[in-house]
Amino acid sequence: MFNVAIDGPAGAGKSTIAKMVAKKMNLVYVDTGSMYRAMALSCIRQGIKAEEHEKVAQAVKDLNISLEYEDGVQQVILNGENVNAYIRTEEVGNMTSAIAAYGEVRERLVDMQQAIARQKDVIMDGRDIGTCVLKDAPVKIYLTAAPRTRAERRYLELKEKGQECDIDTIEKDIIDRDYRDMHREISPLKQAEDAILVDSSDMTIQQVVDAISDIIRERIS
Ligand code: DC
Repeated sequence: MFNVAIDGPAGAGKSTIAKMVAKKMNLVYVDTGSMYRAMALSCIRQGIKAEEHEKVAQAVKDLNISLEYEDGVQQVILNGENVNAYIRTEEVGNMTSAIAAYGEVRERLVDMQQAIARQKDVIMDGRDIGTCVLKDAPVKIYLTAAPRTRAERRYLELKEKGQECDIDTIEKDIIDRDYRDMHREISPLKQAEDAILVDSSDMTIQQVVDAISDIIRERIS
């Protein structure tokens, strides 16, 4: 199988870019963040708090998460329910970052992600794909952008969906989330040694898509 790993901080544009590269290069897009988000949503619904490690660990044991594709768009199925519409809020995002630090949560999802990549040519995005999930991927990208740029992008995305938001709060959330993701003990977010750094702060989406597609083509040939 031919696998592409894309890692980077929140709001760097990983999912937008990976979706477009997937289409162009005929790969299956796997958004691993949405799997962590589904777990967080389930914990929130059960009234479990992020710091209740034992309860979170117990809850994830009983969860069933799977991915389906509708017209090429990934759908996350949590215990039989399609939860795509509920996992993109800031509340779920913050809870996700907190519970993603727990080993029990990561172990379950990493196994699932590796199983998917064994069966399909994927472009998988997350925080630990190049460093842990797909260590042998022939293409690894570390996609980043300045925090303010990332906050501005998230702000526009949320506004488009009609959600009330404040850009300074979003920027602070992004910086806090980056800190948690980069400083946790297990699989912290960092650039893999063999990953190619792409800073999208001053690039258009199309420029980033083209740059990554060129890297993939080079490796394929
Ligand atoms: O990419 P995202 O914003 O949907 O990710 C939400 C959170 O999930 C993020 O704060 C870190 C965590 N995450 C992770 O720890 N490992 C992954 N492979 C993907 C996401």
